[in-house]
Amino acid sequence: MSNWSPNSWRQKPVLQVPNYPDAQALKATEAKLAKFPPLVFAGEARSLLSDLADVAHGKAFLLQGGDCAESFAEHEANHIRDFFQVFLQMAVVLTHGASKPVVKVGRVAGQFAKPRSADTETIGEIELPSYRGDIINGIDFNAEQRVPDPHRMVMAYRQSAATLNLLRAFASGGFADLARVHEWTTSFMDGENISPRYEETANKIEDAISFMAAMGINSDNTPALRRTRFYTSHEALLLGYEEALTREDSISKDWYATSGHMLWIGDRTRQPDGAHVEYFSGIGNPIGVKCGPTMTRDDLLALMDKLNPQDEAGRLTLIARFGDDKVKDYLPQLIETVKEAGRTVVWCCDPMHGNTIKASSGYKTRPFDKVLGEVKSFFEVHRQMGTYAGGVHFEMTGDDVTECVGGVSAVTEASLSDRYHTHCDPRLNASQALELAFLVAEEMRP
Ligand code: PEP
Ligand code: CO
Repeated sequence: MSNWSPNSWRQKPVLQVPNYPDAQALKATEAKLAKFPPLVFAGEARSLLSDLADVAHGKAFLLQGGDCAESFAEHEANHIRDFFQVFLQMAVVLTHGASKPVVKVGRVAGQFAKPRSADTETIGEIELPSYRGDIINGIDFNAEQRVPDPHRMVMAYRQSAATLNLLRAFASGGFADLARVHEWTTSFMDGENISPRYEETANKIEDAISFMAAMGINSDNTPALRRTRFYTSHEALLLGYEEALTREDSISKDWYATSGHMLWIGDRTRQPDGAHVEYFSGIGNPIGVKCGPTMTRDDLLALMDKLNPQDEAGRLTLIARFGDDKVKDYLPQLIETVKEAGRTVVWCCDPMHGNTIKASSGYKTRPFDKVLGEVKSFFEVHRQMGTYAGGVHFEMTGDDVTECVGGVSAVTEASLSDRYHTHCDPRLNASQALELAFLVAEEMRP
């Protein structure tokens, strides 16, 4: 650790790096970003760490979710509002059902860089570099768009700042007031059978609020009723960008990533001796590691040593993403390893990335019943092993998209093309996300 610095990752083997043709421009942009204001503060990251410590100890639950990839094209106030609204609905369903505080962490305000399985994409006779997220290159299938452009980092930074600004206002400015619990419903949810279920929960909360008001507890004297704490997170894949936004905290003198409150390492870049793990080892933020079927016992032990040598509760979240058909084969040994090592982690379930399939039409999709199935198995394994299923991690949007098949809104393979807008992986739409929240609440009921 003593020779760690924000740029020490540059000495390590790095995967998933874009090939910038103009090295000079890249350097200039990184230097410029290094002078920009931080997006989040170290104190906020520490407060999330302490909230996650509660999760690690079974006293709270983590809800993490948002777009697979944010995009410049979808940067709209309504998109952010609808996402936040559905997120609040999910959180309220979980808090109510589980009688535990819910730690709210969006995949938002910085979730731009995407790891890819293949370096190139071929359509017909033409082969081009893969799309790596709007912070790197453009999604359109033409040679010019696919060239990595450093200026995109500045655009992503500015979009993140604007998104975060609105989210902060929503969280503390009255929008998240529990008295508005009925108003968070999005119009297109009307008439579907998920709405009555939500209404029922909302009515109960309203009754509780009236009762508390009669006892003299209201949002004027109890700020917790009218505001919420909402944190941001993303996969810190593009290390040049992250390095530029890594700052020394003037209070603790520790280094923090200021691009978001929580960062995670993807399943493709978590090599214990690789650049990403090196970077993450030196920042003070709470961090996540995605764990897929290729995670070995030795890798996990090495990762826990490097990333959380002091075994600080809340520092490390393991995000299991095995797939509905694999979770019962792989999760138990992961839990066993953590138990044997006597380590403290937050156990989180990402039921999205192990359940991606290609529909016959060519669209990437995820069957909703597989997503549900993985969540259920995740809880079941933890119940059997006596560990705490601490959280869930979803790719979701507040928009009425047709990207994942199934659910109460009954998206079919044939209807995938109706409103398929994702820039990367298929997301749950608003009613699918809420349906999932009800299922999780049932699994958690004390
Ligand atoms: C993601 O979360 O979008 C992602 C790419 O996940 P993973 O690293 O688990 O494949
Ligand atoms: Co994804």
